Amino acid sequence: MYVTPPVSAQHAATISATGSLAQQLSDAFLTVRHETERRAAPLSPEDQLIQSMADASPAKWHRAHVTWFWEQFLLGEHQLGYKVFHPDYAYLFNSYYVSAGPRHARAQRGHLTRPSADEVTAYRRHVDDAVVKFFSEASEDKLASLVPLLEVGMNHEQQHQELMYTDILHAFAQNPIPPAYDADWRMPATTRDGDAWTTLTEGIHTIGHTSDSFHFDNEKPAHRALVGPVKLQRNLVTNREWRDFMDDGGYDKATLWLMDGFAAAAREEWQAPGHWRKIDGEWQIMTLGGLQTIDTDAPVCHISYYEADAFARWSGKHLPTEMEWEVAARANSLNDAYGIVWQWTRSSYAPYPGYRAIEGALGEYNGKFMVNQYVLRGSSLATPQGHSRVTYRNFFYPYHRWQFTGLRLADYGN
Ligand SMILES: [Fe+2]
Repeated sequence: MYVTPPVSAQHAATISATGSLAQQLSDAFLTVRHETERRAAPLSPEDQLIQSMADASPAKWHRAHVTWFWEQFLLGEHQLGYKVFHPDYAYLFNSYYVSAGPRHARAQRGHLTRPSADEVTAYRRHVDDAVVKFFSEASEDKLASLVPLLEVGMNHEQQHQELMYTDILHAFAQNPIPPAYDADWRMPATTRDGDAWTTLTEGIHTIGHTSDSFHFDNEKPAHRALVGPVKLQRNLVTNREWRDFMDDGGYDKATLWLMDGFAAAAREEWQAPGHWRKIDGEWQIMTLGGLQTIDTDAPVCHISYYEADAFARWSGKHLPTEMEWEVAARANSLNDAYGIVWQWTRSSYAPYPGYRAIEGALGEYNGKFMVNQYVLRGSSLATPQGHSRVTYRNFFYPYHRWQFTGLRLADYGN
């Protein structure tokens, strides 16, 4: 049975500290590359091609795109005489890096019956071999200077590993059959103990990443922020609580909703969280294990920011800010902060004070998305081991709900 192991609250270094630097990098690189293929292994070539909506990408494309990333930013720039595997692949598998050249339309990634899944496997092997060879031949100083780039490459591939799960689940959820990615998959166990609320007294706190360990540029600069007084819900909101919201007509009461949210709910005909289906009068949920009955004690999942906000208003509460979440998580006051569902905050995805994107094409990684999106904190059951940390800022548009997204509430006592 496959159950995603719990994720440590703190950053687990991707690169170990034993052996030569070349060996450490090679081990870390191959571990990440293997995980991508492990996640793709249950998928047929047909499964790997499907793009069930513009926001999702085919598994085959994910496998090739992360490979292009290594070819483009490591081998192409630092391996003298490197020959690309195929001259067309940069166009097909560049995602959004304008600085790296023209690219195929995102919404048409599912049109690419060729290259085949086997050809993508050959592409991956070509690049794996070239990267390992590069590690074995480069000087220690050269490798040391490239560690930040290599860590971005590995963490980038881990982000796509999560998307491989969310994207294939969305595709399978459109299928009437309905398929299971892994018939033995079950929702990870959750924790529900202690007081319902944790109190943050008023104080000035450091927010953001403070050390040199790996982080994305959007987690810096660390800065001071006034937080509290506020109470945060220790536990994640459950399906039982969400059913109460639904049974009370939550999806139909315009007064509970942001205007854009109510329009999105009407347009998309939302009456329940994403991937829920009503069969013979009973709600069921499409999961990586196929269609399952709703576990009322499990955290609600696949909700948009709009729905989270409406639920909070219905509850007479609020969504926390990302700063409040970070302060409570640093104090280990939140149950299931990591490894179950990402948690919506009401913080817009904006630059921290003094933020500047890094120079070059990789400056396009985060900074240019800092508008019209909301921050989610924690991590989800699909997040790879070692990819979570307390300063991590995930972000999606407020109407997105195909990720593993849930919520916990904030209470200001008013
Ligand atoms: Fe990417």
